[in-house]
Amino acid sequence: MKQIIEVRVQTRKVELARCKTDLLVLGRCSDAEPDDMVQALDRALGGRIEQLAKLGDFKGKPKTSVLLYGEGKLAAERVLLVGLGERKKATLDTLRRAAAVAAGRAVDLKLPRVALALHRSLGSDFEAAAVGRALAEGAYLGSYRYDEFVTVAENGRRHSLAVEIVDPEAAQIRSLAPGVAAGAIVGRAQAEARTLANRPANVIDPSSLARTAREMMRGLPTVRCTVFDEPKLRANRMGGILAVGSGSQNKPRLILLKYTPRRRPARGLPTVALVGKAVTFDSGGISIKPSADMDQMKFDKTGGIAVLAAIKALAELELPLDVLGLIPAAENLPSGSSYRPGDIITTYSGKTVEILNTDAEGRMILCDALAYAARQQREVIIDIATLTGACMVALGAYKAGLMSNDEELAAQLQRAADASGESVWRLPTGDEYAEEIKSKIADLKNAGSRWGGACTAASFLQQFVGTAKWAHLDIAGMDVLLKPTEYGCVGGTGFGVRLLTTYLMNLVDAKSDV
Ligand code: BES
Ligand code: MN
Ligand code: ZN
Repeated sequence: MKQIIEVRVQTRKVELARCKTDLLVLGRCSDAEPDDMVQALDRALGGRIEQLAKLGDFKGKPKTSVLLYGEGKLAAERVLLVGLGERKKATLDTLRRAAAVAAGRAVDLKLPRVALALHRSLGSDFEAAAVGRALAEGAYLGSYRYDEFVTVAENGRRHSLAVEIVDPEAAQIRSLAPGVAAGAIVGRAQAEARTLANRPANVIDPSSLARTAREMMRGLPTVRCTVFDEPKLRANRMGGILAVGSGSQNKPRLILLKYTPRRRPARGLPTVALVGKAVTFDSGGISIKPSADMDQMKFDKTGGIAVLAAIKALAELELPLDVLGLIPAAENLPSGSSYRPGDIITTYSGKTVEILNTDAEGRMILCDALAYAARQQREVIIDIATLTGACMVALGAYKAGLMSNDEELAAQLQRAADASGESVWRLPTGDEYAEEIKSKIADLKNAGSRWGGACTAASFLQQFVGTAKWAHLDIAGMDVLLKPTEYGCVGGTGFGVRLLTTYLMNLVDAKSDV
């Protein structure tokens, strides 16, 4: 897929005062003296930076930045100082956000080149590889724009951005470089996920999503892409996916992405399945949604897209881990052929489900894919889905819900969330919730009471994973930005790409340490 803005991220060893670039970017903590690198640069600038601090115009607070000009005293045309806040509160996400602010500024200023020297301000508080990753990811996030259907271009933006991570020391560059390379892969995958998310339902339907998946995996011999079309879904008795897709002319699909690494996984590493909900449009079906904001339901495919992008990234990273991606895709529309409230559906697992609300469709497509993953003996199954409005009510648009039947897996995902900046918060599942989704005339029903909707939904999914270690990520509310932030423009966020890839990379790293 062509990037909307072609971003390249590289490292370069260069003396900062000699760094020829359009925008040289430095960090500044609010509670620490500028580091020696900034001080040296400030001397070259005749004390401008110091003056800003004295006047109180720029103190290094988070979400602030200030633009200066090189005025021939530096090789750089401009210098951007980015506030990092209190040093002791800084995390990897502080650097990621600062890189994003800088890349976004470069795009807005229509600059072709930006050089990031942000890492020094936090000294060696973090591991170099993780810092490199965060900076590269931030560069992709902050420069992301979505305008592929705008034909009357007014802003005249550039089509590419060259990002350099710069440092005068060769040793620093050497230790940052592997992280930068990995971060560029993950950042690009996430940008791609955002573009797919932003494409509307008349462009992305289940079959075109399947085609896109194939295209994305072309050139990656370690990934085998198989697509179950409607006859194949019927042959496999995937009643959940078929029921949800039955109301639309755009027939449902199950996209299977099997990644088999070239290097054999270390002993003790689990086989993993990633399962992502891809409802290309969720009108609610016969239980139709109110019309306000219904357009946002084009984002109901973003769990599936996160899985697609994560599989691509881990294949490019050549992670030695067995991962199966499963993306059930359907369009949920009301019509004469739709499934209805009251219907009883036999799912792939053999379990029957009484439909109480056709708008609780996510769990109906996921249950088939989860049961398939369980039948394939996957030891770890992680699903990701814009599943419930209730999760948004509980956590707002700041954290995704995390439910799991395994403490270790939950802790691993929590750690991946902390490192990737894609936050999660644990929510419960269990017998009380499962009780609510028992039906009198079938094995299960697809909706519980008004309360605890995120937890009853997760408990529903849990019925289909057998003995696998399972975690569920409810990303409702995390899938879309309603306001522009340092992480780029309004629209799809690509949430989950960093979280899932970080989790998988950590699994591999933990094994190679011992
Ligand atoms: N895709 C929605 C959940 C959603 C709502 C995501 C708002 C993002 C923003 C899901 O399919 C849905 O409609 N869930 C219902 C379930 C209910 C009918 C049991 C919900 O949350 O209201
Ligand atoms: Mn729905
Ligand atoms: Zn939905």
